[in-house]
Amino acid sequence: MKLPEGVGLGLRYSFAEEVPKKEEGPDWFEIAPENWMGRGGFFRKTLERVRERFPVVCHGLSLSIGSPDPLDTDFLRKVKAFMEEFEIEVYSEHLSFSSFKGDHLYDLLPIPFTEEMVLHVSKRVEQVQEILGRPLILENVTYYWRMPGEMEEWEFINAVLEESGAYLLLDVNNVYVNSVNHSYDPYEFLKRIDLSKVAYIHVAGHERAERILIDTHGTNVKEEVLKLLRYVLEKTGPLPVLIERDNNIPSYEELLEEVENVRRVWSHGKDL
Ligand SMILES: [Fe+2]
Repeated sequence: MKLPEGVGLGLRYSFAEEVPKKEEGPDWFEIAPENWMGRGGFFRKTLERVRERFPVVCHGLSLSIGSPDPLDTDFLRKVKAFMEEFEIEVYSEHLSFSSFKGDHLYDLLPIPFTEEMVLHVSKRVEQVQEILGRPLILENVTYYWRMPGEMEEWEFINAVLEESGAYLLLDVNNVYVNSVNHSYDPYEFLKRIDLSKVAYIHVAGHERAERILIDTHGTNVKEEVLKLLRYVLEKTGPLPVLIERDNNIPSYEELLEEVENVRRVWSHGKDL
């Protein structure tokens, strides 16, 4: 599995058409396969043009790795075919659940941090890895209430990675948002998480809504999150970093300024 290098950007419909026309760009793009699979015309042509010039990785939305429902193996086979067609090697998903008894909940809900769920998730990860023929990369998510559980979040994540062989997509914005909402020190969390398993990193913006922070992906990356990114990169060396923007999406030019901003932190990490 070959990871891209440098600072990437989540590809969104609103600016995708402009990407191949511009000389400058991020180092790579991330796409949600659900938004591009099985679509012809404009979508297919745009993705082909982007792929000609840039490395692309897949970041899924609907796998629901923690669900009690059986895995959707037909869907996974379609993802595999799509990745092969566009020569995409990397696939990541969320360490959460989003379906129950066949219904899609359209949200990424937390999994109880228990030994039982470590085993449940790990078995499903192995199944996914077998179908896709590549390692799965799982992302730590935000959660606004804590499911009953016997482990700390960092313990749970480490145990899933250890048991399943999956890698970590470390979202440092999610770490920050959770640390404020659940009153813990994000640096302590990062000291405890197994950073040797991080495949790549997400950064995004968040916003305050009364007493809590919401992971909106609707603003530029905040300074506190860039500090956490710098802290991680100093420990890990130059891992790929991806900027997520899903709401209040500015022009492609403005997003490229944000890429430059994150690149400054990225090269700082790289120098060490
Ligand atoms: Fe993320």
